[in-house]
Amino acid sequence: MNPTDKFAVMLVLLPAAGALSLGYSTSVYYNQRSQSLGLDEAAFGSPKFWADVDRNIPGWQSELERFRGFCENLRTKPPGKDVFLANGQQVLAQYVYPGIDDKDGSTPPRRAYPADDYLELRELRERLEHDVAPVAQRELRTLLEARPLVDDDDSRDDSGDTWHRAAWYGWQFMSLRGARQWMPETASALRAAMGGARRLGPAHRFVGLARQKARCRGLSHSDGRNYMLSTLTPVAAPTGKCGIVVNGTSAPIATGGPAVILDNTFPHHVYNDADEDRFCIIAEHPALAPVEREALATLFALKDRFTVLELQLAPWGYNDDDLGAALRSGAVYGLDYWKEIGRAPDDRRASPSALTKKRRSRGKGFGGKRTATR
Ligand SMILES: *[C@@H]1O[C@H](CO)[C@@H](O)[C@H](O)[C@H]1NC(C)=O
Repeated sequence: MNPTDKFAVMLVLLPAAGALSLGYSTSVYYNQRSQSLGLDEAAFGSPKFWADVDRNIPGWQSELERFRGFCENLRTKPPGKDVFLANGQQVLAQYVYPGIDDKDGSTPPRRAYPADDYLELRELRERLEHDVAPVAQRELRTLLEARPLVDDDDSRDDSGDTWHRAAWYGWQFMSLRGARQWMPETASALRAAMGGARRLGPAHRFVGLARQKARCRGLSHSDGRNYMLSTLTPVAAPTGKCGIVVNGTSAPIATGGPAVILDNTFPHHVYNDADEDRFCIIAEHPALAPVEREALATLFALKDRFTVLELQLAPWGYNDDDLGAALRSGAVYGLDYWKEIGRAPDDRRASPSALTKKRRSRGKGFGGKRTATR
């Protein structure tokens, strides 16, 4: 396999981190994990969901061996179970994509910061620094004026078109989809940096702005999915004060500095020792051949669509206005809406499948409940 085929890039969200401050309510953070596990079970345990996969990814059982192994894990492995590998990686049994790391040495060994091992990643890092970061720096102010951060210490659930608290105290996230009205050029620049609509894999929902509160540290964690990497593009980060530690090795995050590409299956945490909040763009990408990237993008688009149409929940990163408009226009029934960052809800290029009126009105019953994380 051509080494540049090994890592596809999807913009990713790097979840994580936060210092614990005394006396704030933790429930809003901890409820998210159980919700996300419940959602996985509801989708991956449903014959209806897998019938959807059969229809939309033709030949996946016969032609895509590794992808089939991945789906088998999603279906059969215990949710939430961690597996610790000898090199320090921590993966979720359910989210292991088999066969990515060649034992014969044809792929570079896993490293905390893999960018220098792959031409595709080096190019991406350059583009994020030179083409995306300056645009995001200009647009961030507009976003924050229109959508200020939420209160870190409020115990109510976040709702609507807003910043979301997640992962740890002091971390807030807004998907680029949710922010696109105020950061339209950032969304286009990012899409271009990722190689256009398809080459690096559509960004999905884990692309967005991540804020780490001043004088605050994230919790150490692994994202547990061996087919993903994360990129962190600094947007506002005081030099010398902010960074990330991956498997014990620190990398700076500084305004004007390089984007950080990390293998988020190693334990990692972010820190912000400055007196100001730090903002980055986060994006994730998988390590796969193009056909597998497309299959994965379709699989998770189907899961999001299933979440809305069958479970009547809002997938993480989607807001009520956006989903409401997409239900009215019919865009939710096609897959492009779910696959592409910055897709407008009333964009009808999505091709709604032959769904009945009845199904549509059922979809409208979605009530703004919210699920956590992927
Ligand atoms: C990760 O850290 C552990 C503990 O320090 C070390 O043994 C291991 O080699 C590291 N893994 C990599 C890929 O650097």
